[in-house]
Amino acid sequence: MSKEKTVSEAINYRRSVRIFDTEKPIDKKVVKKCIEQAVLAPNSSNMQLWEFYHITSKDIIEKIAPLCFNQNAAKTAQQLVIFVTRKDLWKKRANANLAYLDSVFGKNNPKKEQSSREKVARNYYGKIIPFAYSEFLGILGFFKYLMILGIGVFKPIYREVRKSDMRIVAHKTCGLAAQNFMISMAAEGYDTCPMEGSDTWRIKKLLDLPFGSEINMIVSCGVRKPEGVYGERFRIPFNEVYKEV
Ligand SMILES: Cc1cc2nc3c(=O)[nH]c(=O)nc-3n(C[C@H](O)[C@H](O)[C@H](O)COP(=O)(O)O)c2cc1C
Repeated sequence: MSKEKTVSEAINYRRSVRIFDTEKPIDKKVVKKCIEQAVLAPNSSNMQLWEFYHITSKDIIEKIAPLCFNQNAAKTAQQLVIFVTRKDLWKKRANANLAYLDSVFGKNNPKKEQSSREKVARNYYGKIIPFAYSEFLGILGFFKYLMILGIGVFKPIYREVRKSDMRIVAHKTCGLAAQNFMISMAAEGYDTCPMEGSDTWRIKKLLDLPFGSEINMIVSCGVRKPEGVYGERFRIPFNEVYKEV
């Protein structure tokens, strides 16, 4: 494999590839390394509410392709990576962060001996995160929202506390991981196509994904066929979307 591309080179090389060369298999170790780089993406509160399902089995890819409506990108994929959000794991992840704080600052430090950084961090994962993520059928979120509307009249406050808001938070974060992955793949000379065109419920069932998980996107992987890139890249003129304030 050729030398790894620079970030700018990889960003420019990456295209959504719809037809992969089925004669050119890709190395699953390299794909796994790119998933390891996906994990390094910035993510909301470092809660890491994500999972990555690396599909290398041809049989499973063949079963998934019809659930992606037989898009060429799925039919010709050599491997797939399914980016999944796990909002339901918030308690586990908050506890992992608290355990990490124990490893950094030491366990059971009396409050008066804690540095302000330690206090803020422990309060964040011990109180604020549970406040933001705790949920009961969407009802609790609604009450939190009303409370925040009231407090928000008097001071700036974080407003995304409803059940739907927390889903967006998890999906935002997962999208960043997916982008890290696709750029890493491009740096290796591999191609990808992100797909949201799929029956996520059926794919969840096929892969036996946990009830609380949601598919963020499926990224098909392989090496491009020249005709697999559908035309020149089209973007709205930059001046139309760039606003200097
Ligand atoms: C979240 C998301 C979902 C997408 N879903 C599909 C899809 O289901 N099928 C597809 O062919 N392309 C899909 N795309 C690719 C876009 O169409 C593509 O990124 C866009 O046209 C720009 O082209 P480029 O990626 O080559 O720059 C998706 C892209 C994103 C970010």
